[in-house]
Amino acid sequence: MVFYMPGEVIEKTLGRGADLTPRQIVAELDKYVVGQGAAKRAVAIALRNRTRRLKLPAEMADEVAPKNIIMIGPTGVGKTEIARRLARLTSSPFIKVEASKYTEVGYVGRDVESMIRDLVELAVAMVRSEKAVEVRQRAGHNVEERLLDLLLPTLGDSGTGSASSSPSAESLEQHERTREKLRLQLTSGSLEDRPIDLDVRASSFSAMRIFSSAGMEEMDINLKDMMPGLFGTKSRKRRMSLSEAREHLLREEEEKLIDSDTVAKQAIQRVEESGIIFIDEIDKIAGRESGQGPDISREGVQRDLLPIVEGTNASTKYGMVRTNHILFIASGAFHVSKPSDLIPELQGRFPIRVELDTLTQQDFARILKEPKNALTRQYVALMETEGIHLTFTDDALETIARYAAEVNERTENIGARRLHTLMEKLLDEISFAPNELDENSIVIDATHVQRTLSDVIRDQDLSRYIL
Ligand SMILES: Nc1ncnc2c1ncn2[C@@H]1O[C@H](COP(=O)(O)OP(=O)(O)OP(=O)(O)O)[C@@H](O)[C@H]1O
Ligand SMILES: [Mg+2]
Repeated sequence: MVFYMPGEVIEKTLGRGADLTPRQIVAELDKYVVGQGAAKRAVAIALRNRTRRLKLPAEMADEVAPKNIIMIGPTGVGKTEIARRLARLTSSPFIKVEASKYTEVGYVGRDVESMIRDLVELAVAMVRSEKAVEVRQRAGHNVEERLLDLLLPTLGDSGTGSASSSPSAESLEQHERTREKLRLQLTSGSLEDRPIDLDVRASSFSAMRIFSSAGMEEMDINLKDMMPGLFGTKSRKRRMSLSEAREHLLREEEEKLIDSDTVAKQAIQRVEESGIIFIDEIDKIAGRESGQGPDISREGVQRDLLPIVEGTNASTKYGMVRTNHILFIASGAFHVSKPSDLIPELQGRFPIRVELDTLTQQDFARILKEPKNALTRQYVALMETEGIHLTFTDDALETIARYAAEVNERTENIGARRLHTLMEKLLDEISFAPNELDENSIVIDATHVQRTLSDVIRDQDLSRYIL
């Protein structure tokens, strides 16, 4: 039986994270996101299923479609956060896009297919940087030789080229000795500031970048073909320090040693087998054709999305990409619209629905202290840079959590984002002028929290504006 992919190829295609079991994935997410078990579970299973698929017999592997997910939940409860953590966890090509950014094909704006192009671009950069690591030693070696050539031009090179009198054996030997001496100095780092004249390619990079960020990435190929003079590789001499020259040369050597075709091929394969696209704010494009205005274009975006999610060949400047096995995770608050407002075909492409829970006071208390990047830890670290030791007592955190829940209930529920506004207000004084405090150690306890925040909390109008 022909299996789709042997183990080591799977490792290469899916990269780090491929061997994580769903339980391990959830455990990783737990380090950053409090609660939301169902959502974590769903994404963990979806992620694991891609590894499983690649181990199937070839013809079966082709049949297994990814089970796309819609995460539904109010604002500020961790939808985007889960996506962000997931991205760090896997080394699969992963992008997060905002659905509201796209417009229907034919209208001004980004077309939906550009998300595939972006994903490929990212995968290319990934593969390229991996290859750069592989060739680093060789590139470094070549650069050393080239730097030596620059420091000490080869004998006979400096002439007009008519090598009528070849250098004597003696001068050759001396040249060699000088070169080795220079090599020692070079490796010891004592020549780093030595000025060097280097041919640098006048880079057309910046011009191309401007085009790409405007969403016209196809343009740079065309322009290059049409106007080679404009985008050509003209070079001119520039004087720079040796260390700067080394960077330039390193990039050049890496470019020579890395085969772009291989990079493109592997990047496309990686996208096809393991790409993940997280479509945030999908609720913003929900809504059926209801007459005029933006609604029509929204439905158009959904229609454009359909083939991509279902599986199509998208063309990119690196080649065609089959989107059949790309995993899509969509998410939205669905305040105004409901998932059933999406066109039915699209609903069908997202068979898994998970709802995220509204966060409670207990969740807030945990969010304040447990995650690796917890807000309290961030403030402690920030103040530490100025020699202030900040500590929060448990009852202080409980109080902040209670206030957050209260304000959310009374004004608008913005989930854990409320904690950011509360903490900012709470630490306003200390952040503004830490040096004016009498003490280097500050303990923030419940009394401190009450004193600082209770006025704002009690006054409904105030909290609406300030928090
Ligand atoms: N369950 C949670 N655990 C830890 N932190 C959380 C949790 N939920 C939200 N946060 C924090 O609150 C902030 C906002 O969360 P996030 O961006 O995930 O909201 P969201 O669910 O995507 O909301 P929206 O629908 O408005 O996009 C982030 O800084 C995040 O760290
Ligand atoms: Mg979000």
